[in-house]
Amino acid sequence: MSGADAGRGDGVSYNYGQGVAMARRLTPNRNGRRHAGAVQFEQRLLSIPANHFAMSYYDKHVFFCCNQRPEGEQCCNNGGSQKMRDYAKDRVKQLTLSGPGKVRINQSGCLDRCKEGPVMVVYPDAVWYTYVDQSDIEEIINEHLVNGRIVERLRI
Ligand code: FES
Repeated sequence: MSGADAGRGDGVSYNYGQGVAMARRLTPNRNGRRHAGAVQFEQRLLSIPANHFAMSYYDKHVFFCCNQRPEGEQCCNNGGSQKMRDYAKDRVKQLTLSGPGKVRINQSGCLDRCKEGPVMVVYPDAVWYTYVDQSDIEEIINEHLVNGRIVERLRI
């Protein structure tokens, strides 16, 4: 399980702490005996579809809001989001970071954080950024997408 909750596929999810408690149930104690609920818990684990724990298709899936509203209304595209998304897409390709298991750059409609925009979000990290220009995008690519370091100064 990662830091995020891992669902059982039945609408109930476990967080990390619960996962640790469950792992303890499965571990025999000093006398070689297991927790009373271990068998039931093992059966529950086995009922989870194998693909539930699959890796995400992309290591980093990035969405740039490119929403364009009528003139005068605040929106990300007024902050140059389409141009920045195009730049990021080209740059990621140039760095051979794009593709399954790697990075995907997509555009999206309004992500409902218009006043903080222009905005982009990196999943599965769920890290949101705002940016001003190409150098900010370059920093996000180099720091976050390449090295896994969040760019705190641009985070929202
Ligand atoms: S227009 Fe981009 S978040 Fe709404």
